[in-house]
Amino acid sequence: MTWAPESWRAFEARHLPTYDDPDALAAAERELRAYPALVNGAEAAALKAAIADAQAGRAFLLQGGDCAESFAEFSPDNIASTYRLMQLMGDAVAAASGLPVIRLGRIAGQFAKPRSTDLEAKSGTALPAYRGDIVNGIAFDAAARRPDPERMFRAYAQASATLAHLRTLSSADDAPFYTSHEALLLPFEEALVRRSGPGSYASSAHLLWIGHRTRFDGSAHVEFARGLANPLGIKCGPGLEPDALLRLLDRLDPAREPGRVTLIARMGHADIAALLPPLMRAVRREGRPVLWSCDPMHGNTVKAANGYKTRPLGRILAETSDFFSIARSEAVVPGGVHVEMTGRDVTECTGGAGEAPVTERDLGDRYHTHCDPRLNARQALELAALVAERLAEARRTRAA
Ligand code: PEP
Ligand code: CO
Repeated sequence: MTWAPESWRAFEARHLPTYDDPDALAAAERELRAYPALVNGAEAAALKAAIADAQAGRAFLLQGGDCAESFAEFSPDNIASTYRLMQLMGDAVAAASGLPVIRLGRIAGQFAKPRSTDLEAKSGTALPAYRGDIVNGIAFDAAARRPDPERMFRAYAQASATLAHLRTLSSADDAPFYTSHEALLLPFEEALVRRSGPGSYASSAHLLWIGHRTRFDGSAHVEFARGLANPLGIKCGPGLEPDALLRLLDRLDPAREPGRVTLIARMGHADIAALLPPLMRAVRREGRPVLWSCDPMHGNTVKAANGYKTRPLGRILAETSDFFSIARSEAVVPGGVHVEMTGRDVTECTGGAGEAPVTERDLGDRYHTHCDPRLNARQALELAALVAERLAEARRTRAA
């Protein structure tokens, strides 16, 4: 079957908004098709080559940023603090492991969110669920929650300005800083597909990933991603059977291209030991080139007694540590981590070493996320220290 930027439209698309004015949506898509690429194909290809190195154990992938970027939190300070935090984390990992660290932000385009229900009900009123600032507003009122295609322009502008700022920040360093987000809002992503050499690529980010809720057989999101030249991520969560994963790899990487696929395991601290080894084994048995990365965030979300959605740092660290142990016993390269974090001093995840661990009672103090709870800078550095330690250990084992 031939692929085209719009071929996903014949497939089952979950988690897309329903726009009430199809003409306005079509007009927005038309306009975006004429916009400049945000990233170019050569940069996406460079990231793919770097990920191929990581697959061979010669680099490590650090992917991190907001769960959902928002229009309200857009500021040069926020961009710089995320950038600097990733740099500190990367430096710690590089020093301990001796490996170059690939820095890949969940930034400059991470605006669309999957939601488990189409509607959100509050005290007798039901409104469309918040699907990220690129779709609708977070305020619980009918006007804000109406999916509005015009929001795609603001998202494009913010992504563009964020990228420009990141390029300024990274021009002072030698290493490039790459961008990524979930390939979710397909009308937007399709409009930003551009030609590069003989192929097509998504110009909205260097790497796009397919989320846990849209990686099913027959998914429109998988169909869309299949024809792109970009490196791709696939979230691997509970319920993903080894055979289904192999079918996904057949579809997304038929040529078995190094650097093409990063598998992002997000099993949860209690389930990773049972669920990850069979997937690693199946992929290895088939000789598929992938990079295994660990997302210790999305399987460890809990509801605190006071109603806040949070994540205990202890569980995040435990899952990360298990990831390294499992990779070692499965003879697989532990190639990366994928983290929701911010350089701002938020109180969204509980725990942390030092004098001031975040307690459930603190959650209300600085809880700013537009979606899932993020690590604050101190917590993120604690995670980086653990990653550094586990990689240093692997380095010593190799040397011995
Ligand atoms: C996310 O990365 O924010 C997300 C929704 O993850 P997942 O698809 O793994 O649930
Ligand atoms: Co999230």
